[in-house]
Amino acid sequence: MREKLLNIRKEAEKSLLEAIKQQDIERLRINFLGKKGKLTQLLRGMGNLLPEDRPVIGQMANKLRSDLERMIEEKIEAIKEKEKLERLEKEQIDVTITGRKKFIGRKHPLTRTLEDIKSFFIGMGYEVVEGPEIELDYYNFEALNTPEDHPARDVQDTFYITDKILLRTQTSPMQVRTMEKRKPPLKILAPGRVYRSDAVDATHSPVFHQVEGLVIDENITMGDLKGTLIAFARYLFGQDRGVRFRPHYFPFTEPSAELDISCIVCNGKGCRLCSYNGWLEILGCGMVHPRVLEMVGYNPEKVGGFALGMGIERIALLKYGIDDMRLFFENDLRFLRQF
Ligand code: DAH
Repeated sequence: MREKLLNIRKEAEKSLLEAIKQQDIERLRINFLGKKGKLTQLLRGMGNLLPEDRPVIGQMANKLRSDLERMIEEKIEAIKEKEKLERLEKEQIDVTITGRKKFIGRKHPLTRTLEDIKSFFIGMGYEVVEGPEIELDYYNFEALNTPEDHPARDVQDTFYITDKILLRTQTSPMQVRTMEKRKPPLKILAPGRVYRSDAVDATHSPVFHQVEGLVIDENITMGDLKGTLIAFARYLFGQDRGVRFRPHYFPFTEPSAELDISCIVCNGKGCRLCSYNGWLEILGCGMVHPRVLEMVGYNPEKVGGFALGMGIERIALLKYGIDDMRLFFENDLRFLRQF
């Protein structure tokens, strides 16, 4: 019996040494101390011992049990400590490594320009409206007092889909669409994409963007148009910018004008940008033609107003001093990141 106990001790010590994980220890504990474990089994045989031997063997067995329990606890502690160190080692973070640079997008220069334009007019109480790019000939031309034989309707300029449907060549049809739906007074701004059958070059593109403005009320005069647009031009191009209105022709306004600003490069002295005349055209405008008002059922004797239209690309070119419109559409990040 004594020998068996010694053997169990040796065997247990050896297994303990070999144990690596906590599960190994658990298995070991069951193996030796569990109900069917080796030590427990052995102690069942105590009854067969001589009465005088029992106390000594009993003591030995108890000592072995408590020693094993202690060694098992110690081993578990050692394993836990080791696993902790390994985990810490693995989870180590080098806080000195430089972070990854986040790519931050920027707004496209055309978006920024439109936002500038909008912010002026919204501040003046205008409402932004949008409409279809595939448009009826009626809205794009006819209701805008543009007769059948007008050069603007030339198929060389306009993308026709059928003889009644086309890609809008201007945002002006939004004037008619809005007036048809609502009663005066009106103050609207209509930005959007427009299409013309032009070849691509530094100042032309078959797709570009315009913003249309329309004010309708009683007692609107050319003075309202001038005051609004002079303030607008100076809002965009600087408070001391020279501004002039030059007579022009548009079918849907009478009188019509174009608004010029003093050249942003030479300030009026004359340079290549302004073709040596000191001025740059930035938009078209005029007092809404009575025919246009009649077509939507308004009474030109009672209400009237002014309209304006501008190309966003053109404004952006002038605002940022860019000499080629193609840069807006090529999406070269080296260009776009400068804004
Ligand atoms: N629709 C014109 C164009 O594309 C621009 C324009 C001129 C709009 C005068 C207007 C205006 O509303 O009054 O050239």
